[in-house]
Amino acid sequence: MREISLHILDVAENGITAGASCIQIVVEEARAENVLKIVIRDNGRGISSEKIDRITDPFVTTRTTRRVGLGLSLLEAAARRCDGEAKIESEPGAGTEVTAVFRYNHIDRAPIGDMAGSITTLIAGNPDVDFIYDHSVDDRHFGMDTREIRKELEDSFLADPAVIYHLAQTIRKHLNRLDQGQMNSEMGEEGNGKIDDRRS
Ligand SMILES: Nc1ncnc2c1ncn2[C@@H]1O[C@H](COP(=O)(O)OP(=O)(O)O)[C@@H](O)[C@H]1O
Ligand SMILES: [Mg+2]
Repeated sequence: MREISLHILDVAENGITAGASCIQIVVEEARAENVLKIVIRDNGRGISSEKIDRITDPFVTTRTTRRVGLGLSLLEAAARRCDGEAKIESEPGAGTEVTAVFRYNHIDRAPIGDMAGSITTLIAGNPDVDFIYDHSVDDRHFGMDTREIRKELEDSFLADPAVIYHLAQTIRKHLNRLDQGQMNSEMGEEGNGKIDDRRS
């Protein structure tokens, strides 16, 4: 069973390969509705509809088919196993959006895994690409946007190991709070982790 964070890493890397300059990752844990929804959006070169048909084909056929690709079919298989589904929508020249939905409490639903690790791996490996990450647990939300973080970083680079390390720690801290607490988290300024509880 593969962690959701690794599926996300994989799908985001497709966007980078497709020349995207900005990738948005949305994780919605709607626990009250028993739904986990993942969206990965990029502004890369997109996929022609003819090619989408080929990519999505192995989703519904068997693993003995010619290997068109693995990342998307693995995600699709994981979602289907959990009473969910995956879909890919693309506009050539504009970008691609991959959505996967899982039944949250399905016994086969993989753990979300290390989202901080996936996000910081993407940032560290692709310093010229911007990443927007939004993660919600019911009505609690955490958001991060490298375009904002860049503005706040004066002397250091986003991909600097010290910045990446700090970012990972900060994301972990916020996700723990989302997981357990009642707070909304926003982070845009050099990962300094402002917390606000908008509901109070
Ligand atoms: N976001 C994307 N933008 C453009 N093309 C994509 C995107 N995602 C997938 N593709 C195309 O679909 C193919 C299959 O993707 P995937 O299942 O991840 O397998 P792989 O990356 O190993 O080829 C890719 O090789 C690529 O041609
Ligand atoms: Mg791939």
